[in-house]
Amino acid sequence: MLGVSIPIVELRQIIKQVAPTDVTVLITGESGVGKEVVANEIHRLSRRSVKPFITVNCGAIPEGIIESELFGHVKGSFTGAVDTRKGYFEAANGGTIFLDEIGELPLQTQVKFLRVIENGEYMKVGGTKTEKVDVRIIAASNKNLEQLIESNSFREDLYYRLRSINIHIPPLRERKEDIEILFDYFVKLFCERNGIKFKGISDGSMDYIINYSWPGNVRQLRNFTESLITLNIDKKIEINDVTKQLNVPRSENSLPAYISVYKGQDEKQLLFGALFELKKDIMDIKHQLAVIEENKQPVPENGFYVSDERLDNITFDDFEKELLIYYYNKYNGNINKIAHQLKISNRTLYRKFKLYGLKNGKAL
Ligand SMILES: Nc1ncnc2c1ncn2[C@@H]1O[C@H](COP(=O)(O)OP(=O)(O)O)[C@@H](O)[C@H]1O
Ligand SMILES: [Mg+2]
Repeated sequence: MLGVSIPIVELRQIIKQVAPTDVTVLITGESGVGKEVVANEIHRLSRRSVKPFITVNCGAIPEGIIESELFGHVKGSFTGAVDTRKGYFEAANGGTIFLDEIGELPLQTQVKFLRVIENGEYMKVGGTKTEKVDVRIIAASNKNLEQLIESNSFREDLYYRLRSINIHIPPLRERKEDIEILFDYFVKLFCERNGIKFKGISDGSMDYIINYSWPGNVRQLRNFTESLITLNIDKKIEINDVTKQLNVPRSENSLPAYISVYKGQDEKQLLFGALFELKKDIMDIKHQLAVIEENKQPVPENGFYVSDERLDNITFDDFEKELLIYYYNKYNGNINKIAHQLKISNRTLYRKFKLYGLKNGKAL
């Protein structure tokens, strides 16, 4: 867990404190901030470190099989269950289980999960006997769980149980002090692994990297670093290489970030320069806002609306799901009304509800 910013220094301290205990930890933060790194570190520093650390990405497992994946199933419990199978909890026994994207866990599974947290007990799918495990649970979410509670897709009791210890990792743009260290580390790692000799980077480029917003956080910084080196082998990296790689539009290019451009000039000059840049940028932003405002399409009140931008990369399934959810909310989940509106059979609609995890008779 690299970093020198205050949040990261504090984080390392918290990790040291919670690691030796069995307390359940909830790690929150945007995608790519290092949630899995933290979970791994907690396991590594715990007495469980010699036992398995198992990561389960709750968002990547189809709803229909998630319980069997987590808790296992007994032979013959459903079509295709030809053998009794261990679930992740059993496999992690004695160790740590890391449930990533916990907000994606179906409500039904959340109940069972709560029980495992409380007393380590669960039942295999199709099983009749209670099983017991000794696992430390770490959960993570990049979604706002409080919002999910409001929309009834996350259980409040589970949330409070999970967040007894909540570790929040701030986005990279809020701890810029860490950027250069991480960059250097990724450069070193990548160059060593690939037998590359790094030829350096200009000050302006580094300032640019530090001041960039990194929406994909540390993961994006790592991927960026690796591509940047790969595409610029045998030369010192200049600012153009960086902006090209980040593919930023021109306006963001000119944010007043290049302090080192002014190096060697006196303070007043520097200040004027920065102010001038700032003014230019504000005018730029104003202009862009005006353009956006002009191009905005009216959103019909209470209507089903898909923006052009969204249409450009929407899949048929997503579209169908959005349409269903729209009518689902409009008719409070009333099957008859929705089926009539969409001119499909109740049976087909039931199937689709199931497919998209919607329940009969309640708005989202
Ligand atoms: N503080 C850090 N020090 C070193 N590497 C980090 C740090 N934070 C994140 N990373 C790296 O960034 C990438 C994304 O981290 P990850 O833990 O998967 O993020 P998240 O789970 O929050 O999406 C990984 O390659 C990880 O090794
Ligand atoms: Mg992750």
